[in-house]
Amino acid sequence: MKNKLEKIKQEVVRALQQAIGSAQLDDLKVKYLGRRGEVNKIMKQIASLTEKEKKEIGQLANQIKSDIVAEFSKYKHVANEKTSNSFLDVTLPGEKIESGHLHPITIVRQELEDLFSSLGFMILDGPELESDYYNFEALNIPKHHPARDMQDTFYIDHKNAAGEFDLVLRTHTSPMQVRAMQKYGAPLRCVVPGRVFRNEATDACHEHTLYQLEGLMIDKNISIANLIAVVKEMLSGMFKQEIKTRVRPGYFPFVEPGIEFDMGCLVCHGQKCPSCKHSGWVEMMGAGMVHPNVLKAGGIDPNVYSGFAFGMGIDRLVMMKYGINDIRHFEGGDLRFLQQF
Ligand code: DAH
Repeated sequence: MKNKLEKIKQEVVRALQQAIGSAQLDDLKVKYLGRRGEVNKIMKQIASLTEKEKKEIGQLANQIKSDIVAEFSKYKHVANEKTSNSFLDVTLPGEKIESGHLHPITIVRQELEDLFSSLGFMILDGPELESDYYNFEALNIPKHHPARDMQDTFYIDHKNAAGEFDLVLRTHTSPMQVRAMQKYGAPLRCVVPGRVFRNEATDACHEHTLYQLEGLMIDKNISIANLIAVVKEMLSGMFKQEIKTRVRPGYFPFVEPGIEFDMGCLVCHGQKCPSCKHSGWVEMMGAGMVHPNVLKAGGIDPNVYSGFAFGMGIDRLVMMKYGINDIRHFEGGDLRFLQQF
């Protein structure tokens, strides 16, 4: 029994020298010091010995047991070190720190701002919660005029002193035309990028929250030719290639004459797809010569000055630029979409 105890101790010392991780160390502990471990097996046999042997072997067994415990505590630290050392692979790539990035709409908005600043346009910002007056009336859309139906509006549940609902989520960036005229007078060159809202049923080309860029240029002798030149300059700056455009007559109460610009669909290149409503053309903007009533609302004399205005959907432009076929991706918050930019 004495020999057996000595042998167990030697075994433990050897096994600990070879152990390479805390898992192995735990296994060894169970094997030798556990309830049914080697040391306890001997302890149990002591009961059947003579009194003299009991004393002698008992003492030795206790001594060996505490030696083994001491061995384990010595090796625990060493075994842990072995684990980390043996698994350290210095060639593994480091952990990447995720950094944020711009939304595709912000990227394009900033490009547009740069383009228009280089043409001498101011960049203005306007309120998203807009008065009924600036959103409609100042733009030659009186109350109860059927043109109000052109834009599905989110009215704010708030009445003014006269008991009328007078606040809306702006349906377009055009209200800034009159605000800018009132503030800066003529001559004037500005663009207004911003978020607008429509009470729309959403699909691949309609969203309730979208982005527009309004443009306004007022001076003496401004004509539609200036408008077309500025739009063409913007498109070639944006897409770095010749873009097909077409101009159609369009009705907007705040311009006269009013036109609509379409551009050739860059998602399908004329093959017809859902983003161009299967027509090969994408409506890019409404535009026209600023209506005399709007100039007057802005405090500018229509007999002296004329101007053009345009309002463009930034979302559409981004869809064309990156070949995105569903407008709902922009507000969807899906990282698989967003991380591509
Ligand atoms: N505000 C119009 C809309 O959202 C777009 C528009 C049309 C803006 C003609 C203009 C314009 O400045 O001249 O539908």
